[in-house]
Amino acid sequence: MNESNYEYDYKKYDKKNSNKNKPKNYKRCTMILYNSYDKSKWHEAHKRAIARAAPICTAFDWNLAIYDFPVDKIENLDGLDTANNEKDVIKLIETTIGGSGSYLRNLIDNNRFLITNKYQAQFGTPIATTSKPDPKKLITPKKVLEELQKKPCGVFIGLGRHGLPKDVMKMGHYDLDITEKGLSLETCTAIASIPAVISTMAKYE
Ligand SMILES: C[S@@+](CC[C@H](N)C(=O)[O-])C[C@H]1O[C@@H](n2cnc3c(N)ncnc32)[C@H](O)[C@@H]1O
Repeated sequence: MNESNYEYDYKKYDKKNSNKNKPKNYKRCTMILYNSYDKSKWHEAHKRAIARAAPICTAFDWNLAIYDFPVDKIENLDGLDTANNEKDVIKLIETTIGGSGSYLRNLIDNNRFLITNKYQAQFGTPIATTSKPDPKKLITPKKVLEELQKKPCGVFIGLGRHGLPKDVMKMGHYDLDITEKGLSLETCTAIASIPAVISTMAKYE
């Protein structure tokens, strides 16, 4: 098939399938980074998780929230005293995550970044992520899309080796294993793969 035929066929295909391909109206997903690492001290790991999550959330159009992060313990890097309001905190995070700071800034400027220590109603349906989902609460990525047609979703990701604690798992209405194979992922791979799988499924539905 030469190029012009391909172009012609492609347009025909597009027209024929224009209704089928109409994007569904999905509600917003928020990635909630839950600090199960250390609540008493600000660590490199907190920073790294934000630095990894900000570009992914930007790429796949998710909101980002950091939950129970010891933001009041961030040490000052620019000669200021300890950050004492949210704006200072954000500024400090932004300046310490290198290249990802611009992605975080983009989320902040669009009201898509939140610092919190309680579950916010605006997050919608709480979903815990784990490689060991409770069969009674199991939700597949495909079912997440069905939920997103009705309500926004807040997707918890645990920092550190132990993942999400029991109380946060309980908070989740559903348990999502993004691999659907029970494979345990590192936090940073979970941060990348969860939005990638869900948003790509939504895009090509
Ligand atoms: C290092 S893992 C914690 C390991 C924990 N044993 C587990 O498998 O959930 C850190 C975080 O990555 C996420 N994660 C790990 N494996 C996952 C999977 N298969 N599906 C979805 N999220 C996963 C969870 O949020 C978990 O709290």
